Amino acid sequence: MPATPLLNLGYMSGTMHATTQFNTDYHSMLLQSKGLLDGETDFIANLANLSAIIWMNMPAINWCGFYIKKQQQLVLGPFQGKPACIRIEMGKGVCGTAAAKASTQIVDDVHQFPGHIACDSASNSEIVLPILQNGDVIAVLDIDSPLLQRFNQQDGLELQKVVNVLQQTL
Ligand code: SME
Repeated sequence: MPATPLLNLGYMSGTMHATTQFNTDYHSMLLQSKGLLDGETDFIANLANLSAIIWMNMPAINWCGFYIKKQQQLVLGPFQGKPACIRIEMGKGVCGTAAAKASTQIVDDVHQFPGHIACDSASNSEIVLPILQNGDVIAVLDIDSPLLQRFNQQDGLELQKVVNVLQQTL
């Protein structure tokens, strides 16, 4: 009997699609986040550790990290992956949209997103969550995947729990 694959990848138009759920261990991700951030209030240190925790626990991603709001721009913060764009205007790209709307953005195909900012041509889908302090956006969490449709609503809900851990340190 053939082994059941953890995920099936379809090949369409030369680009891989995620056609089943990924087995991200969100339980471990949340436990590690709570453990490492417990009692620590240094924002940059916490962003650095969270980017590493997400990178270690999420399959099929090629970048994860943070942009920090400074005046009316988002400026690159701690991340894992290739070097990335440094400054993003509020309202621009997926990150700037998440920050301006203070709402999570899930983009199945970044090439269809008006104004998408391509830092790495390998990226095909993306999820961005705002980070709030006293109701104001102070940063965003950005995760990219080389697969189309990598992220779904459940990923958004689970990642929000990790963001909540960070927000509780503020
Ligand atoms: N694609 C993002 C820019 C940041 S990189 O993905 C790291 C955007 O459109 O805002």
